[in-house]
Amino acid sequence: MSRSAHPAGPRHADVYPEGHYTAPPADLNVLDEKVWARTVRRNSDGVVTVGGIEVSRLAEEFGTPAYFLDESDFRARCRAWADAFGPDADVFYAGKAFLSRAVVRWLMEEGLNLDVCSGGELTTALDVGMPPERIAFHGNNKSTEEIERAVRLGVGRIVLDSFQEIVRVAHIAQSMGKRQRVQIRVTVGVEAHTHEFIATAHEDQKFGIGLAGGEAAEAVRRALKLDGIELVGIHSHIGSQIFDMAGFEVSARRVVQLLADVRDEHGVELPEIDLGGGLGIAYTSEDDPAEPHEIAKALNEIVGRECEAHGLATPRISVEPGRAIVGPTAFTLYEVGTIKPLEGLRTYVSVDGGMSDNIRTALYDAEYSVALVSRTSDAEPMLSRVVGKHCESGDIVVRDAFLPADLAPGDLIAVPATGAYCRSMASNYNHSLRPPVVAVNDGEARVIVRRETEEDLLRLDVG
Ligand code: LLP
Repeated sequence: MSRSAHPAGPRHADVYPEGHYTAPPADLNVLDEKVWARTVRRNSDGVVTVGGIEVSRLAEEFGTPAYFLDESDFRARCRAWADAFGPDADVFYAGKAFLSRAVVRWLMEEGLNLDVCSGGELTTALDVGMPPERIAFHGNNKSTEEIERAVRLGVGRIVLDSFQEIVRVAHIAQSMGKRQRVQIRVTVGVEAHTHEFIATAHEDQKFGIGLAGGEAAEAVRRALKLDGIELVGIHSHIGSQIFDMAGFEVSARRVVQLLADVRDEHGVELPEIDLGGGLGIAYTSEDDPAEPHEIAKALNEIVGRECEAHGLATPRISVEPGRAIVGPTAFTLYEVGTIKPLEGLRTYVSVDGGMSDNIRTALYDAEYSVALVSRTSDAEPMLSRVVGKHCESGDIVVRDAFLPADLAPGDLIAVPATGAYCRSMASNYNHSLRPPVVAVNDGEARVIVRRETEEDLLRLDVG
C-alpha cells in the first residue's frame, strides 16, 4: 500500500526470489533518516540511540517488544503543521493514530486541537484537561450516549456522517436546550491511491454523505432547518497514506463548489471547511512524502482560488493529520529469537512481538523497513522476513527486508515509523501482552503507556 512496492530489478531477479524489495542498500549499518525519528543516530560504538539513549539500555530497562517515541520529534511535527497552516486555520490531530494522556498534553502545549471518534478517546482527552471546544467528534455510528455526552460537554464540533445523525444530534441538543456546532461529512468521489480499506472518499463505502448525487445538498437543506444544530461547515476526508496531492485538490475544489451551491440556494455562506487527514509518510526509503508546508500551500491556493472564482469569502480551513504527526516519531524494538534460513528463498527472523503489536502488514500489505540496532555488522545482506510469535503464518511484521547474514538470537532489531496505527490497533491475540509506549526526550525515557500484564488479562476475565 505504500509506494515502495517494486518488483526486484533484473539484477536481483537472478539472485533473489520475486518480492516487494529493491536492491539491498549499499551499507546496512546506515540509517535512512527519512524513515527514522529525528533524534535517532548510530553512535561510535555502533549502537543506535534515540534522544541520546542507547537502544540496548532501553531494552534492558523497559523490555522488548516496546515502542519508543521521540517526544521532541512529535512536538516538532505538531509545530510544523501549526506553522504551515497559520493562525487562520486549525490543525486537529487525529487521535485514532495514537492517543494517550501525554500525547494530549503535548497537543495542548503545542497549540493543536484533537479529533476523537469514540467515548474512550474523548475520556482520555478530558482526563488531562483538553478544553472540549478544541475537540471534534467523529464517527459513522456514534451512540446516543456518545452524542449526549459530546453535546453536554460542548465539544467544538460534531461531524455528522449520515442523514439519521443530522436528526439525532439536532434532537438531542434541542432536548438539552443547546445548539451544537456541526459539520457535514461528504464523500467527494475521489479515488485516493491507497489501500481500499483506508480510502474513504469514493462512493461505495460506509462513511459520509455523497456529493455527486445531490445527497449532500439535501443534507445541508435538512440541517439548516433544525434548531438544535448550527451548521458551520463541510468536512471531507479522502483516505490515508496518500502521496498524490491531486486527490486533496480535487476534494477541496468539490467542497468549495458545495459551499457556492449552498450560498446560491440558501443565501448562507458556511464559514468552515475541513479537508481531513491522510498525508502519507515514509515507511521505506522508496517513499517520498510531502511536507506540511507543501500541503498547506496547495490547499490554501486551491481554496483561495476557487472561493474567489465563486465570489465566496475564504472559509476557515481545518485539517486532521494523524499518521503524518505521530507515525515517523516512533519505532518498535524487538529481540531476535528463532532464525530459519530457507535456501534459495529467504530467512525467517522471528521476533518477540508480531501482528499483535503491528497488524498493518497483515491487514493492508503495508511495507516497513528494519535495521539491526544493537551493533553494526559487515556481514553480507540477507533477504529476510521479520515474523512474530503468533500462531499463524500471516503473522508478518516486515515482508521483505535485508538484514546482515550474521544476525543472531539476542540481537535487537527495530522497525521504524510505527508511531501511527500500531499501538492503537494492537491486540491481545494469543493472550499476548500489549507493549508499552516509552517517550524519549533529551536523555530521558519514561513510560507513557505501560506494558500490559497477565493480571490485566485476568482482570477482564471474570467468568
Ligand atoms: N480524519 C478522519 C475523519 C479520519 O477518518 C482519519 C483516519 C484521519 C483524519 C487521520 O488520517 P491520517 O492522517 O492518520 O492518515 N488504520 C489505518 C488508517 C485508518 C485511518 C482512519 N481514519 C492504517 O493503519 O493505515
